[in-house]
Amino acid sequence: MAAILANRIAQAADLVTVALDELLPRAEGPEARLTEAMRYAALGPGKRLRPFFALEAGRIFDLPERSVLRAACALECVHAYSLVHDDLPCMDDDDLRRGRPTVHKAYDEATAVLVGDALLTIAFELLVDPDTHPSAEVRVELVRILAVASGARGMVGGQMIDILGVRDDLGEVARMQRMKTGALIACAFELPLAMARPKDAERNALMAFGRDIGLAYQIVDDVLDAEGDIVSLGKAAGGKDAALGKTNFVTLLGVEAAKSRIAHLVAQTKAHLDQFGDKGQILRSAVDFVLERRT
Ligand code: IPE
Ligand code: IPE
Ligand code: MG
Ligand code: MG
Ligand code: MG
Repeated sequence: MAAILANRIAQAADLVTVALDELLPRAEGPEARLTEAMRYAALGPGKRLRPFFALEAGRIFDLPERSVLRAACALECVHAYSLVHDDLPCMDDDDLRRGRPTVHKAYDEATAVLVGDALLTIAFELLVDPDTHPSAEVRVELVRILAVASGARGMVGGQMIDILGVRDDLGEVARMQRMKTGALIACAFELPLAMARPKDAERNALMAFGRDIGLAYQIVDDVLDAEGDIVSLGKAAGGKDAALGKTNFVTLLGVEAAKSRIAHLVAQTKAHLDQFGDKGQILRSAVDFVLERRT
């Protein structure tokens, strides 16, 4: 199973990188600086976790890969935009991302702001294109889902809470993590679900899976910030969150308690897949793989 899983993750990453390379614009003239920087941000060596989840969810319901891949590209554009803005000096002020200089270092701050804007908006351009799905009603639903997950009730709202900081309140920390990271990860399931329209029990189970793995993923990210190394991660580590005064499970409870929370979430996350039987096998094994990452 480990070999099949590794293969599926690598395959998803290749598919999405090739598709993004085709879908992202190339321009002549002065705006070429923007389109080059968009490509720099989106085509860099990311793990492509969200597209992998979307494609696996699509497989459970036998959805056409082409449709799911376009939705996955839209989601990955929003994710890439969130990283470009997250790294800006006014946010986390990071110089390294995916093993390379961050966009504002490789270009400049104004370009990085515009790259984020353009990656966010192209995501919706991709979703409304009839190539993504033949039904206009489904396409509107895809747009709604990605907009909610990205905006004030999702990623951007979570980033606001992260910047303001949360005082000694674990419930509020979990809410922030679910918003800033969980919402876009859950979206990897919600987009294919909008195409498949399965029965409620299957929908609820997969959404719960997305939400729980999304929260666990951010706690792992926080542990890696404390324990990981910059070379494997390709981004800052060495306790940068603590140095910036961020509040998360690690800075509040310490690494060991954060790890027990992850272990608890692993069991809970896998249990949501019970009703999918063999069809849930890849996602089940992905839980350990994704949460044991060191990169
Ligand atoms: C990093 O996301 C930011 C978080 C939400 C934890 P990823 O760990 O998915 O980053 P890439 O896409 O692989 O670079
Ligand atoms: C980022 O969380 C979440 C986003 C919405 C981008 P972090 O700030 O911890 O992500 P990294 O560690 O910079 O990748
Ligand atoms: Mg941040
Ligand atoms: Mg950051
Ligand atoms: Mg982090």
